[in-house]
Amino acid sequence: MKKSINPLWGGRFENKSSNLLKKINNSIGFDYKLALQDIKLNLEYSKSLKKAKIITDPEYKKIKKALEEICKQINVGKYKFSEDFEDIHMNIEMSLKKKIGSLAGKIHTGKSRNDQVVTDLKLWTREKLGILVKDIIDIQKAIIKKAEINFSVIMPGFTHLQNAQPVLFAHYLLSLFEMLQRDKKRVRNLQENLNECPLGSGALVGTNFFEIDRFSLAKNLGFKKPSENSIDSVSDRDFVLDFLFIVSTLSMHLSRFAEDFIIWSSSSFDFLKFPDSLSTGSSIMPQKKNPDSAELIRAKTGRIFSSMINILIVLKGLPTGYSKDLQEDKEAIFDAYESIDIILKVTNEIIKLVKINKKAMLKSSFDGYSTATDLADWIVKNIGKTFRQAHEISGKIVLLAEKQKMKLHELDLKLMQSIEPKITKDVYTFLSPINSINQKKSYGGTASDRVKEALLRAKKKL
Ligand code: ARG
Repeated sequence: MKKSINPLWGGRFENKSSNLLKKINNSIGFDYKLALQDIKLNLEYSKSLKKAKIITDPEYKKIKKALEEICKQINVGKYKFSEDFEDIHMNIEMSLKKKIGSLAGKIHTGKSRNDQVVTDLKLWTREKLGILVKDIIDIQKAIIKKAEINFSVIMPGFTHLQNAQPVLFAHYLLSLFEMLQRDKKRVRNLQENLNECPLGSGALVGTNFFEIDRFSLAKNLGFKKPSENSIDSVSDRDFVLDFLFIVSTLSMHLSRFAEDFIIWSSSSFDFLKFPDSLSTGSSIMPQKKNPDSAELIRAKTGRIFSSMINILIVLKGLPTGYSKDLQEDKEAIFDAYESIDIILKVTNEIIKLVKINKKAMLKSSFDGYSTATDLADWIVKNIGKTFRQAHEISGKIVLLAEKQKMKLHELDLKLMQSIEPKITKDVYTFLSPINSINQKKSYGGTASDRVKEALLRAKKKL
């Protein structure tokens, strides 16, 4: 027989692939990242083949040994992925063939690369979800530590990026903790839901009479059960979208945090300093120290979003069943993972190493009449006005203070009384940031006692 132009599918072809086809079609340049998953899959699938009596026990042992050797080579970086074979599945099968000859040709009995690739990718995704949980918890631990060390630090809380009301820096930090808590939940939900094994679905209609036990195969690969419908199984990439949405949201949270720190590190704010190890200089301005690490967290978030949109577009209107378009899922998910992996690690480092300027934060918390709401609340409580009336009075006092170029707590009692005569000097105890903070006693509020409790609860959540 004449040598086939392709060892996997060349039989019905008379002419070889063009170089252009190879360029557009080959995926080994990126799906080599599924090598270990593909080996695991082949190991378990061979077990199923043995159980189904398609291969004998000695044949299974040969295949197993050879696959384990290939695995070792990959792990020590000695395996050479070859562009002669279009994808990872073909690479592994051809390496197996090199080692054990035509026996390798049996491992594809009853399976298709369509159910194989989606199973590999599910295995990969499950593994990465585990790493994400770990990295999120590491950041949460860093947050708790930073919050404890800086527990007494007071800063202005912002709305519209204008000073709004004083807040404990620890309270601010715990807001990120909560965002991450939701992210972690989303990751864990996906871990829970990603439990159906597509292998055994064949190209799209299921496998022939080979009696592959899909239930034990699924279990051996770490899934709960086999997937329900073979057509759906080979075309389903919902888990890729779920993953991309989860990391999009996670990165969005980290980008907002990064943005806060970038702004606060500017000399105009001077709330905090990035360490040299996470900053870069300017090639022209000798004085500069830029928070590039945080800026790149912000930017990579956009890149992660684009992967999600990319896959939504690839899937939109795609005919049911496998189409080669689905091969594009991998670069998107790999790229998003690489981005989220680095930004999680950098975020952790930033939280640990950033130096807080307690004085500047406190000073700024006095600015912007940030206790005007406390003044209004005092008027409600002590003078018996409605909140709307008190709001008006407090607003007028702010205007007066602004004209006098004074902070609220610096304003003379007589001046305040010119607007509302019933105001007494007791009001001053509520106009300082720390007193303002400690009045915010509602559950989840910034009063020191509440934040102490929140820290305890946070620790229990880890
Ligand atoms: N490299 C392919 C992918 O990543 C494997 C599946 C190929 N299937 C096919 N029918 N050509 O999706």
